[in-house]
Amino acid sequence: MASAAALLLQLQLLLLLSLSAAQPGFISLDCGGADDYTDGIGIQWTSDAKLVFGGQATNLPVQNQLQKQYSTLRYFPADTSKYCYTMNVRTRTRYLVRASFLYGNFDNSNVYPKFDLSLGATPWSTVIIDDADTPVVEEAIILAAAPTLSVCLSNASTGQPFISTLELRQFNGSLYYTDYEAQFFLALSARINFGADGNKSVRYPDDPFDRIWESDSLRRANYLVDVAPGTERITTTKPVFVGTELEPPEKVMQTAVVGQNGSLNYRLDLEGFPGNAWAVSYFAEIEDLAPDETRKFKLVVPGMPLFSKPTVDVEENAQGKYRLYQPGYTNVTLPFVFSFEFKKTNDSSKGPILNAMEIYKHVQITMGSQDANTMSSLASRYPQAGWAQEGGDPCLPVSWTWVQCSSEAAPRVLSITLSEKNITGSIPEELTKLSALVELRLDGNSFSGGIPDFSGCRNLQYIHLENNQLNGALPSSLGELPNLKELYIQNNRLSGHIPRALSKKSIIFNSSGNNLQGPSDSISHGTIIIIVCAVVGAILLLAVAIGCCLCTHKRKKKPSRETVVLAAPAKKLGSYFSEVATETAHRFALSEIEDATDKFERRIGSGGFGIVYYGKLADGREIAVKLLTNDSYQGIREFLNEVALLSRIHHRNLVTFLGYSQQDGKNILVYEFMHNGTLKEHLRGGPNDVKITSWVKRLEIAEDAAKGIEYLHTGCSPTIIHRDVKSSNILLDKNMRAKVADFGLSKPAVDGSHVSSIVRGTVGYLDPEYYISQQLTEKSDIYSFGVILLELISGHEPISSDNFGLNCRNIVAWARSHIESGNIDAIIDASLDTGYDLQSVWKIAEVGIMCVKPKGAQRPTISEVLKEIQDAIAIEVQREAPQVQQLMSKRSMGSVSINTDNSVDLEQNASFDEMLMRPGLR
Ligand SMILES: *[C@@H]1O[C@H](CO)[C@@H](O)[C@H](O)[C@H]1NC(C)=O
Ligand SMILES: *[C@@H]1O[C@H](CO)[C@@H](O)[C@H](O)[C@H]1NC(C)=O
Ligand SMILES: *[C@@H]1O[C@H](CO)[C@@H](O)[C@H](O)[C@H]1NC(C)=O
Ligand SMILES: *[C@@H]1O[C@H](CO)[C@@H](O)[C@H](O)[C@H]1NC(C)=O
Ligand SMILES: *[C@@H]1O[C@H](CO)[C@@H](O)[C@H](O)[C@H]1NC(C)=O
Ligand SMILES: *[C@@H]1O[C@H](CO)[C@@H](O)[C@H](O)[C@H]1NC(C)=O
Ligand SMILES: *[C@@H]1O[C@H](CO)[C@@H](O)[C@H](O)[C@H]1NC(C)=O
Repeated sequence: MASAAALLLQLQLLLLLSLSAAQPGFISLDCGGADDYTDGIGIQWTSDAKLVFGGQATNLPVQNQLQKQYSTLRYFPADTSKYCYTMNVRTRTRYLVRASFLYGNFDNSNVYPKFDLSLGATPWSTVIIDDADTPVVEEAIILAAAPTLSVCLSNASTGQPFISTLELRQFNGSLYYTDYEAQFFLALSARINFGADGNKSVRYPDDPFDRIWESDSLRRANYLVDVAPGTERITTTKPVFVGTELEPPEKVMQTAVVGQNGSLNYRLDLEGFPGNAWAVSYFAEIEDLAPDETRKFKLVVPGMPLFSKPTVDVEENAQGKYRLYQPGYTNVTLPFVFSFEFKKTNDSSKGPILNAMEIYKHVQITMGSQDANTMSSLASRYPQAGWAQEGGDPCLPVSWTWVQCSSEAAPRVLSITLSEKNITGSIPEELTKLSALVELRLDGNSFSGGIPDFSGCRNLQYIHLENNQLNGALPSSLGELPNLKELYIQNNRLSGHIPRALSKKSIIFNSSGNNLQGPSDSISHGTIIIIVCAVVGAILLLAVAIGCCLCTHKRKKKPSRETVVLAAPAKKLGSYFSEVATETAHRFALSEIEDATDKFERRIGSGGFGIVYYGKLADGREIAVKLLTNDSYQGIREFLNEVALLSRIHHRNLVTFLGYSQQDGKNILVYEFMHNGTLKEHLRGGPNDVKITSWVKRLEIAEDAAKGIEYLHTGCSPTIIHRDVKSSNILLDKNMRAKVADFGLSKPAVDGSHVSSIVRGTVGYLDPEYYISQQLTEKSDIYSFGVILLELISGHEPISSDNFGLNCRNIVAWARSHIESGNIDAIIDASLDTGYDLQSVWKIAEVGIMCVKPKGAQRPTISEVLKEIQDAIAIEVQREAPQVQQLMSKRSMGSVSINTDNSVDLEQNASFDEMLMRPGLR
């Protein structure tokens, strides 16, 4: 009873807290959420439904364990538009803007999205999802320069752009003031609470501004490594004075790490760096030192002697114990991998202390388009219209859907297309202020009133005002537009005389359906008048010229997907740091790898690029370590470029790339360990391998592998061609789910299975067309995949002198001759469990033969192949009604479904006969 009462009291307190804590200056949007609520820490979340233009709200499929704000999200089409949230702010006030993204496989596609995030017109970050269940969080501190602040999503290169939460926190006074704040905002790279008690971050209400102070014991990939021996956590419950300019929460200052052995060592990977940083460290003496004890230390950063000049004496600097000292740099250049050490001085009795640290990158604010104010004033006239709510800058990073802009650094609006938007009222005067405007389309609305004076838009060439309700006279200024080529004003209520200047010009001019009269000395019939300049030839010339203009003036098309082979010659891709910095590849220390692999003790395979070893990381994760042969890469940069590429490729059916190591001349790639080895082993059945004898299981493996390849071919931009698809590159995990390995590497092979250093591939799987032409396309992978399908049916190796009889060493020729003569029985693996449906085998045989057609153009796409495999699986699943449930559940669990039903029933024999009567394949 007592405890129940206490609980009640607590609940009431919580309620009171949340009611009274209508946090001023907080905006917390639960994107995709349906209602408003207050969460467990007292933050009031509101639905984003009213704030955003477009997008679709959805719930995550898995709801357990999530904070409520992460159980929903809003996603947007992966098109060329941008999608913005526009929030009201107080100008000349600093705000913390925080956006978070929890993918949660909301679209059930397992394709990890990648898209751009911008703050107003300024590119802020590229959001790269590489884990479905961990939110990506982006944070910035910006001085609001205008009464609104926009956060926009655009440029999806994989998946669909989405957002889970968007938060705005207003800062007080001079908090986070910088001298550069009009030109630069701060993008958060690290905010770490050292010595934290557990993994939980500290935030509101401990931090009234709701900064999130991450625990140093939470080692995110790429985050905090190289902790020196002797590093100890200390904590106090005594109050710490924090009333300094940055006002960090007391709770964060009450914990720290101390280097008992004289130094504190850390290495951070700073996202977005190298760059200019705003960095600050927080120190407070929270140990009770004896009178004769001192704590003095210096910051040591390799290659940066300047850092080591000042000596920190925390007590002295802070003017007392339990008080905060927060030295920092407002503008310092930092690398991507930032290693630093706090080292005690010779005359200090105690090692260094560190309570917290913050590092931000200065991001230059993009000027934005020159017509931004005019355009936002124009849009604000139509608060009900969707097209007017697109938000953000009209041109940057991509333009509004009805606007086209020039490509200058500060773009101008060149074209406005508001045809048939049901707009009423007069033509807005803002349009006459767009002095770079070339094309204006307002046709098919209900505009009324007169035509305004466009003489300020001297570049205007195309004006469409037809099919409105405009009245009054045609302004003579139209005739004075020096570049005017086409003017359409038909079907309005215009009256009076056509200005003489207009009638003299050689333009296309349609004025029918009005009440207009020609200029006083000429006659107009109010139909299409092409005012001829001279002879017919001139008209033709003109027509050709206009034709050209129109072509080049068409709406931007989505650029067609480029196919780039990740192959030699190595692309020139920026510098080492700028390239790797944009990615999330984790870097392992060589010592870590050596420990994990017991100094490269257990060899588990050799691939196209080197030898693969088994390893186990300190945290228990099993890994496959690929030690690349020395001559695989010409330089560090080339290796790191490929690492950067690999780290961008994420799919359930691709072997997960965990990171790399690059030290002492060794190039190492680290992958997840796949427990069940290669498909090849499970088809041929080595001494220790269990042969897969279930046809459904083989189909499922084919389905998994096809999905992985489909992602490389269609989900990546640029498209990735694997180039070495084979059964030994299809790996099986604990649950016998298949994943494709060895993708994304461009260097020629060094082991014997490969045919040449130019053409990459393995004999038996190699597309003959590619071998001859050396022109690589996705269809080369299709060929190799076709060979795998034939292997799955027959269990045979692609090249063998034993299996295929005289004069035939090749699975393709052998299988083709049997399949084409309708004798599929002859190629079916005798070790397959009976109880498969011949129809499904036929399906795979047919698609396999299509895949190995000599000409790439005749082969299907991987998506078409996948569809056939899925159809074949459906046939197997439906084969026997009582088995359906069982098979389905086996499938969804991804376990090995060994078919125990060995009976051959009549129905199956019927279909067998049916199949035999099929006409041979072309
Ligand atoms: C869109 O993203 C791609 C790939 O991430 C990048 O190469 C391209 O520059 C981006 N486009 C814009 C306009 O930012
Ligand atoms: C911001 O400043 C005002 C007055 O200067 C103060 O009342 C308010 O509590 C401050 N807010 C926070 C979160 O510190
Ligand atoms: C903290 O997080 C790490 C890594 O995620 C985990 O291994 C550890 O068990 C967690 N510790 C606590 C106290 O939750
Ligand atoms: C402290 O350093 C000494 C010598 O450098 C070393 O022997 C000792 O093991 C270190 N202590 C700890 C706790 O790592
Ligand atoms: C910081 O310093 C660099 C180099 O001295 C300079 O180019 C840059 O403009 C400065 N300011 C910011 C905000 O980066
Ligand atoms: C500290 O000790 C090191 C080595 O013992 C010495 O090289 C250095 O000069 C000393 N520094 C000072 C300030 O005494
Ligand atoms: C056009 O606008 C009017 C009000 O101005 C509205 O009633 C009507 O539904 C709109 N029509 C369309 C097709 O949007």
